[in-house]
Amino acid sequence: TIHPVLLCGGSGTRLWPISRRGYPKQFADILGGTSLFHRTVERLRGPGFAEPVVVTGEDLRFIVTEQLAEASQAAGAILIEPDSRNTAPAVLAAALWVAKTDPDALILVAPSDHVIADDAAFRAALAAAADAAAGGALVTFGIEPTRAETGYGWLELRSPDDKAARCPRPLVRFVEKPARPLAEQMLSSGRFLWNAGIFLFSVTAILNAYRRQVPEMVACVEAAVAGAERDLGFLRLAQAPWSRVQPESIDYAIMEREENLVVMPFGAGWSDLGDWKTVWQESQPDNDGNAVSGNAIAIDCRGSLLRSESEGQELVGIGLDNIIAVTMPDAVLVANMADHQRVREAVEALKDRG
Ligand code: GDD
Ligand code: MG
Repeated sequence: TIHPVLLCGGSGTRLWPISRRGYPKQFADILGGTSLFHRTVERLRGPGFAEPVVVTGEDLRFIVTEQLAEASQAAGAILIEPDSRNTAPAVLAAALWVAKTDPDALILVAPSDHVIADDAAFRAALAAAADAAAGGALVTFGIEPTRAETGYGWLELRSPDDKAARCPRPLVRFVEKPARPLAEQMLSSGRFLWNAGIFLFSVTAILNAYRRQVPEMVACVEAAVAGAERDLGFLRLAQAPWSRVQPESIDYAIMEREENLVVMPFGAGWSDLGDWKTVWQESQPDNDGNAVSGNAIAIDCRGSLLRSESEGQELVGIGLDNIIAVTMPDAVLVANMADHQRVREAVEALKDRG
């Protein structure tokens, strides 16, 4: 059985003002319809899947239970981190938890803030990769890169032909968040895919990898899981051992260092919905390149995202080129499309104002 492990950390500051610290992007209704978290839950259930294990923080626990209820989904467990220590300890805690009840389990690590256009194709890719994972490989999912992105991990294949494979291929190396010149080199070589941040492995294989690479982290997280307290539907990890955990992402702590990685090429419309430019692209802009939603109207605009999230508040853009305009009841963002990465500065600036 595949146990989905849903990671709900990160606050998604580049999607301010829809994404807030107390209500991060995976829970917001960004593309219309249901939240990304809700879609992730629905993608990973049915035959072959166990109930998901959610790993999240104190602040978000009731949003998680609310959205699980909305999706009519029971949780296998909701693990609460005393504070965020990045993804390596979060995945480890879930793996230790799952290992207690199902030592033969496969774990699927799934960020809850991605878009996957074709759920059936994704489940087919999972099925194709399950044997490799059961055999002890750490499976990554590879996306065809379209730009020299420095915010992602990159996966090197033996040959460009491997990109068309319908089964996992051996990985030459895993490069997390490269510098720009290296990213440009990797893009033009044609031998690299982006790491989707989704991983499939057996609990045995991943626990062995953690023991090899970060034994101190294993000791602390084991103690945090052993000392966890039940509180209503939550399982709160023990604070004292958790506070000794070094923050690190699974990409740096495990994936860059391990040898037994494979990559499953995956082409079904994956997107890390990380910023407004991506939301604009994913919203299928009209003939003038505008994505207009909510109570918004575009007159003589091009390449712009206009979106009013406030009931009864109209947003009208006239003669705009490549502009992001988003309104909420208590906040308005107006920015150049080219500055989409800089939206996080808004959050910083507001924090400084207290
Ligand atoms: N529970 C928990 N606790 N979840 C966390 C924590 C934490 O401390 N930190 C991050 N997460 C969650 C985030 O909410 C997100 O869903 C997922 O884990 C990945 O974390 P990010 O912080 O978004 O990672 P990233 O985007 O920088 O990089 C990862 O994803 C890329 C693709 O989107 C890496 O795996 C890259 O290699 C990959 O290309
Ligand atoms: Mg991310």
